[in-house]
Amino acid sequence: MVRVSYQQKPYRRALMETWGATCTPSPSDRTAAGRAILAKRPDHPGSLGIAISEAVEIAAQRDDTKYALGSVLNHVLLHQTVVGLEAMTQLEMADDYPDVVVGCTGGGSNFAGIAFPFLGAQLRGGKKIHIVAVEPAACPSLTRGRYAYDFGDTAHLTPLTKMHTLGSTFTPPGFHAGGLRYHGMAPLVSHVKQLGLIEARAYHQISCFEAGVLFARVEGILPAPEANHAVRGAIDEALRCKEEGVSRAILFNLCGHGHFDMQAYMDYFAGKLTDQNYDEAELAMALAGLPSVSA
Ligand SMILES: Cc1ncc(COP(=O)(O)O)c(C=O)c1O
Repeated sequence: MVRVSYQQKPYRRALMETWGATCTPSPSDRTAAGRAILAKRPDHPGSLGIAISEAVEIAAQRDDTKYALGSVLNHVLLHQTVVGLEAMTQLEMADDYPDVVVGCTGGGSNFAGIAFPFLGAQLRGGKKIHIVAVEPAACPSLTRGRYAYDFGDTAHLTPLTKMHTLGSTFTPPGFHAGGLRYHGMAPLVSHVKQLGLIEARAYHQISCFEAGVLFARVEGILPAPEANHAVRGAIDEALRCKEEGVSRAILFNLCGHGHFDMQAYMDYFAGKLTDQNYDEAELAMALAGLPSVSA
């Protein structure tokens, strides 16, 4: 488990331990990848890229262990499209169709899951819709990253993938939407962004928590900090409708509940959350380290 999440989300750890797992914060001293990173920075907060390196390293060395990635790869995105296909059927039953579709983007799977069926319909001659990918301003791969071949993990054990990337060694600050702290973006999401078929937008965490709390008070559902980014995006689209005096159907993906993120909400209510900017120098260094790939 990424070290910063291990510290920020103790109930997630407790849940895994309930089912018999042993949780180790990453970077750890149990893998060569983890040890190399700790040697350079003993208090490293970890990142999804490092956790992937450690998991892949262990899986590659053991016959009884397999590794399955839950995001980023195109087949995961396609698997998640059941979300958009279901939304399509539900909207059909309501005799409606979205004008705008919004999702948050970490590795891209829940966003693609809701958006791609509608984008596919559009590309086959259907209604043109506005699709918005919302990412954290502290880890802005789609809005600030380079579209290039890069590794999916920090120790470079994975194949190269063409994607929007901040560089595989980029360590985002420890904001609360842990699932959005990934340096890259799924190849298919990167591709449709490159083609101009979607808009990417970056928000800081406090305005996302504001949106999540408003949603919880109105709907009675408490969103995950990751989902708060989509809620913020949907609310901003609704406010734009108000300003323009038009009515639009806005569909967004509430990709997870926040019941294991109550510390984040407590910090927000106590005024302890800060909007963290990524380190420009670190971003430049991580991008300078992108692998050179001949065309
Ligand atoms: C609730 C939630 N939403 C979103 C994400 C981001 O992943 P993806 O962009 O692949 O949907 C995560 C990742 O852990 C998550 O836990």
